[in-house]
Amino acid sequence: MTAPAEPTGTDTTAATAGPANPLIAPTAAGHRRVLTGDRPTGPLHLGHYFGTLRNRVQLQSQGLELMIVVADYQVITDRDRPDRLAERAENLVLDYLAAGVDPGRATIFTHSAVPALNQLLLPFLSLVSVAELSRNPTVKDEIAHSRQSAVSGLMFTYPVHQAADLLFCKADLVPVGQDQLPHLEVARTVARRFNDRYGTLFPEPQALLSDAPLLLGTDAGKMSKSRGNAISLGADGDETARMLRGAVTDPDRHIAYDPEHRPGVSNLLLLTALCQDRDPHQVAEEIGAGGAAALKRTATEAVNEYFRPLRARRAELAADRTLLREVLHTGNARANEIANRTLAEVRTAMGTF
Ligand code: TRP
Repeated sequence: MTAPAEPTGTDTTAATAGPANPLIAPTAAGHRRVLTGDRPTGPLHLGHYFGTLRNRVQLQSQGLELMIVVADYQVITDRDRPDRLAERAENLVLDYLAAGVDPGRATIFTHSAVPALNQLLLPFLSLVSVAELSRNPTVKDEIAHSRQSAVSGLMFTYPVHQAADLLFCKADLVPVGQDQLPHLEVARTVARRFNDRYGTLFPEPQALLSDAPLLLGTDAGKMSKSRGNAISLGADGDETARMLRGAVTDPDRHIAYDPEHRPGVSNLLLLTALCQDRDPHQVAEEIGAGGAAALKRTATEAVNEYFRPLRARRAELAADRTLLREVLHTGNARANEIANRTLAEVRTAMGTF
């Protein structure tokens, strides 16, 4: 594996263009390094898949360099005792590889193994105000659903830590879901202020939103592992059927796509449409007066059909944990190299030791 050249803050050299892709290609042109990540709190679910995982794989197949952070230091923002973190980190790698990430070309690493990345948090914190931190809508939402009675300092500051995830490797493209946009804004602000104060070093990373509208959980609320309303990537056909049978709908037998007034029904239509690469209105028309039961059957079949190959690959990979560990080991070594180099540049820019 040859390491691609380091991008610099001002470099706008076009990325290797992949096959034309109407969704991604125009946005990805000119970008080189993609970074995104997940908290190792549990298995990834269908919302992750359609919101970002699928995009990551597409970007990688277009020749962009893909970095993925297993955000283990974000797990302790809202819980006292992080449970089985190493095992959960390996399981994330399993989901990535099952979804099609190429471990030979991607750098998959954990926060806790990259000291220089974490050190960047200190200068970066000096670049944002307490008022800015406390009005972050995603942080507010997470506080509302936190398991702790008191809000930790890390909860308020983690968007700045997340800025370090992006800036340490000078990532310029971030495939994320809607909920992460406030954090991306923090990263852009930090980059801009650092550059103004100490000289240009960091590119301002850009979001790449999936074209898929936001998938909700089976309770028609935000899909989340911890809220018990998510179908995981590794779920089998029966579990999928059970979850979808229990999904919230409404008493109107006539099925129509109306996300604002009928969120539960519309969400199942959207899920079906995503799996079948169709328009949710068209799916609704087909079901017509069939009611919620027919809709749930259709959605179950669509999910099980679409995810069959991914699930088979996942089961195969799960049989060999050493591969998963090796992927993390190699990724951590590479992330450390990059982070050490960036920290050295930061020290020079700031005139510290
Ligand atoms: N906060 C993200 C989440 O909860 C995970 C994450 C950590 C991330 N670092 C990142 C996402 C950097 C994008 C870029 O899903």
